[in-house]
Amino acid sequence: MDYFRYVDNELWCEDVPVTKIAGDVGTPFYLYSCRTIERHFNVFDQAFADVPHMICFSSKSNSNIAILKVLIRQGGGVDIVSGGELYRALQAGVDPHKVVYSGVGKREDEIKFAIEKEILMFNVESSQEIEVINACAGQVGKKARIALRVNPDVDPMTHPHISTGLKENKFGIDINRSLDEYRRAQQLDNIDIIGVDCHIGSQITEISPFLDALDRLKKLIDLLREENINISYLDLGGGLGITYDEETPPHPTEYATALIKRAGNIDCTFILEPGRVIIGNAGILVSQVLYTKDSDGKNFIVVDAGMNDLIRPSLYESYHQVQPVIQNESPVITADVVGPICESGDFIAKKRSMPQLKRGDLLAVMSAGAYGFTMASNYNSRPRVAEVLIQDDRYYVIRKRETYEDIIRGEEIPEFLKEKE
Ligand code: LLP
Repeated sequence: MDYFRYVDNELWCEDVPVTKIAGDVGTPFYLYSCRTIERHFNVFDQAFADVPHMICFSSKSNSNIAILKVLIRQGGGVDIVSGGELYRALQAGVDPHKVVYSGVGKREDEIKFAIEKEILMFNVESSQEIEVINACAGQVGKKARIALRVNPDVDPMTHPHISTGLKENKFGIDINRSLDEYRRAQQLDNIDIIGVDCHIGSQITEISPFLDALDRLKKLIDLLREENINISYLDLGGGLGITYDEETPPHPTEYATALIKRAGNIDCTFILEPGRVIIGNAGILVSQVLYTKDSDGKNFIVVDAGMNDLIRPSLYESYHQVQPVIQNESPVITADVVGPICESGDFIAKKRSMPQLKRGDLLAVMSAGAYGFTMASNYNSRPRVAEVLIQDDRYYVIRKRETYEDIIRGEEIPEFLKEKE
């Protein structure tokens, strides 16, 4: 359920017409609905109300500090994967005790930063990493709380690039080796074991893979407790899918109810790391038609947003609905919606039924709130776009459009290339 709707054939977000913002801030821009974000968070949070739990929003899906603040104000924590994401979360005012840190390649400086800030826990992804965290904690002079991210070897039945819980994926520690790793970690002076973690993939549209993973983690928790290894947190990661096209993912309530039931009296605080399900359908990318052309019967709509702004279609062949901001009744054509980047792989949508469009018409690329801006780049030296947040009848630019100066910031001309006076 989101707050994007048509009023008299014109797309509005909450109580603001999208054309109004386009007129003021120019295109392209990401547009987020605050009411939708809050609603999604609260529905998800409420779904776990019967058990002790913590919802740590996965900031890789959208890390704008205003967005993080919206969620933190609702009581959320943050799931991070880098020092940069920790920095952002802290800037947004997160309680460090609600931060969990996953990732296969944590650097020592990042680990120390997180220990200094006393985050809730590291989700450790290899036996070498346990050693490194132990050493870093010794240097910082504080204990590091950890869970092991186990790889439960379940098939999340999603796109191979976003599947993470199979043996062949690089993530986590093989569940069959994890007991030994826990035993070793238990011996280390600066490590405090507090939990078990997994994250099996993203855009998962069935409940069964989550339940399979939970079953395996439960068995592990029993074994650990038999050895007096203290487990008080069960982190099940993120991954719940959303509707981009015709997918029918479980509702968060259905997902939570099934997990809680299957967990039984596990006596752990649940941690969930949702990203997409909170922010995906709370954001759109608004773009403008630059040109229309046809070549040998094939129609192209060239827009001013490209794969550098939204890479999902190019990278995963992901589907995003593309809708005119102002609907018209003109005859429908089949067209590819493409960007200005010098690559054939630069497309937003292929073979779509679209009304006749003309230069300057606005298009909304729907469901673009997750992994949209966070995966944007400056490829082709294109300034990254603005981000706008709507709350009721007001809008706020939460990230300015980059300027040409911004895109060369940090570059330097070496002495030998400088003009002689
Ligand atoms: N926790 C961990 C450890 C993760 O790696 C991820 C996502 C999440 C939580 C959040 O998952 P979500 O609830 O959003 O599914 N760029 C891809 C998605 C990559 C997901 C990476 N990990 C895309 O655009 O579809």
